[in-house]
Amino acid sequence: MAKFLLQTMKKKLPKAGTLEITPSILSADFANLSSEIAQVVAQGIQVVHLDVMDGHFVPNITIGPPVVKWIRRCTDAVLDTHLMITDPQTYAPQFIKAGSDHITFHIETVDNAADFIKRLHDLGVSAGVTLNPKTPAKKIEKVAALCDMILVMTVQPGFGGQSFMEDACRKCAEIRKWVGPDVRIEVDGGIDASTVAIARDLGADTFVAGNAIFGRPDRAAAIGDIRKALGS
Ligand code: DX5
Ligand code: ZN
Repeated sequence: MAKFLLQTMKKKLPKAGTLEITPSILSADFANLSSEIAQVVAQGIQVVHLDVMDGHFVPNITIGPPVVKWIRRCTDAVLDTHLMITDPQTYAPQFIKAGSDHITFHIETVDNAADFIKRLHDLGVSAGVTLNPKTPAKKIEKVAALCDMILVMTVQPGFGGQSFMEDACRKCAEIRKWVGPDVRIEVDGGIDASTVAIARDLGADTFVAGNAIFGRPDRAAAIGDIRKALGS
């Protein structure tokens, strides 16, 4: 019964087939997250990207489940939670309990990704794997079709505001051939109005943007510029 209730409370990613911009709060004002998130949701944003870093898998530390719990209370957006941590299997349930709707974990951090994806689905969330820029697409071939959304890093994870790595983005084309149109492919790192169409043309349909949105005072203009570049 508890599991059933949890599942019905979870928000689903928009069905594949649309282009979605997912603002990363990493570049937002952490003392004012509620209003920062409200500003992007007011522009029709449906999915917000939460970057979780533990100081081990990446050389930076960000937020934990208590922060997600309060973000959950201030928005109905889908909470896309990118775990850049060495032990996602231990901590994912805490993020799910706090309010995460989608969990992404790095393929490098788990021995049996298929089992973990199944466990995440059983916990009521959508799930996906992430690849670092240097990790070959081959590493996720066996589990790609089990994912709801696959995340392709186009910068070295850990910090916002880095430059887009087009070479790393080419993996999207290979992955798209395996999964077809029904699995979302999200790109993360250096996405702005000048790079987003490159990622779209390579097969991505979901675009994380941190600095390009929260690094500008006018969030409507920032999102509008990325949409214009996508022709959407
Ligand atoms: C980096 C994070 C990203 C980051 C992207 O490790 O995973 O989500 O916020 O930031 P920008 O869009 O500024 O490159
Ligand atoms: Zn991220």
